[in-house]
Amino acid sequence: MSNTIITPDTVESNDKTGLNYKTVIETFGCQFITSQILDNIRKLTNQTKLHPFFENDIFFAHRDLDKLLNECIANKSNNFYLYTGRGPSSTNLHLGHLVPFMATKYLQDIFDVPVIIQITDDEKYYFKNNDDGLNQYRSYAIENIKDIIACGFNPHKTFIFLNSTNTSHFSHNHIKIQKKIKLHHIKSTFGYTDDDNMGRVSFPTQQMTPSFATSFPHLLSNQYKDIPTNPLDNILYQLSEPIYPDIKDMKCVIIAAVDQDPYFRTLRNIAPKIKEHQPIVIYSKFLASLQGKNNKMSASVNNSAIFLTDTPKQIKKKINSFAFSGGQETLELHREIGGNTDVDVAFQYIQYFSDNVNIVQTIKEQYTSGELLTGELKKTCISILTDIVLKHQEIRNKITMDDLKQFMTPRFINQS
Ligand code: TYM
Repeated sequence: MSNTIITPDTVESNDKTGLNYKTVIETFGCQFITSQILDNIRKLTNQTKLHPFFENDIFFAHRDLDKLLNECIANKSNNFYLYTGRGPSSTNLHLGHLVPFMATKYLQDIFDVPVIIQITDDEKYYFKNNDDGLNQYRSYAIENIKDIIACGFNPHKTFIFLNSTNTSHFSHNHIKIQKKIKLHHIKSTFGYTDDDNMGRVSFPTQQMTPSFATSFPHLLSNQYKDIPTNPLDNILYQLSEPIYPDIKDMKCVIIAAVDQDPYFRTLRNIAPKIKEHQPIVIYSKFLASLQGKNNKMSASVNNSAIFLTDTPKQIKKKINSFAFSGGQETLELHREIGGNTDVDVAFQYIQYFSDNVNIVQTIKEQYTSGELLTGELKKTCISILTDIVLKHQEIRNKITMDDLKQFMTPRFINQS
């Protein structure tokens, strides 16, 4: 029987065709993204075709996206911001990490909305059992931010921050969230035990806090100019002006792979108790590990990933030597019964990163009929991935510390 486990720490299944996303939806209580939802996105943004991530069912699950789109249509305005993040566990991102960032950048472009990106250096410091200091994770954060900026975010509408250097507005909501969540809930949802350190146990609320616009009045509210930065003046201002009317109803749309759901599911349960809107979520499936679709691509598993720093030679070697194939054992058999795209990892990578939905369909037909051989399929995959990685490296190499400073400076990012 197929068995799928998905948590922020573990993603695995015993089935080579991959994780069972239907069960995931049922267990987590999300909904499938329907063709009606995609139609509404096209309508609101004047697009005839959406990014292949959406056309190809890679972003597959949501909560309340349908309601948000109806509101946008009724009010003729996109009153929301996008929120995503990264836990800097090393200097390198892999292709799987790129998926939510590429999707967020795309949605920022078509909806023209602000983006907030949280870098959880605290998370990785608490979670790793080694002697690395916090500064180690901060230095990884800097390298990761270069990769994130290279995805093409709008510098006037995007704010990137590290948890370890965060500001007072955020604390206000963080305190309220912490008060509403019980320790036993965090232990059962995230599997923490009494041996876990306090940072680890309290971390989830850090990841939840950016899901409310009121955590960022200095970025999102038209009153940003009035908000004092001096701590005493700031408290006095907040006592007299506790809400920011223009962002009270601004919604948050979270973009992630579905492993991040435990944080946001928990937050949605308590949001009404602190008079905040439940965040909307949009989740993707996982880019597979080279070894098979039953595991996600992961930086911590040897040879499971294509990194954004890989050379064309490394990409070619990894795909040719490690990518799990749905091809048959002999040429004759392959010609006779065809390959299996349900388990073929190179095919999945083409599905994720080819910008041409029609070519993906043709490859699928030719491979399953036996016309296209495994070597030929892998060659196409290598060419698509090499192109993506080289283009990314070219842009990333030009990113300067001044660029980082611009994205990381707290400032108003909600102008139309
Ligand atoms: P992290 O750094 O583990 O992963 C960053 C983002 O990449 C997604 N992801 C993948 N997506 C597709 N295929 C894969 N193989 C794959 N591996 C990872 C993750 O779901 C994530 O969206 N705690 C978070 C950082 C974070 C965050 C957030 C993420 C803070 N706030 C808000 C999303 C939304 C983390 O460690 O992600």
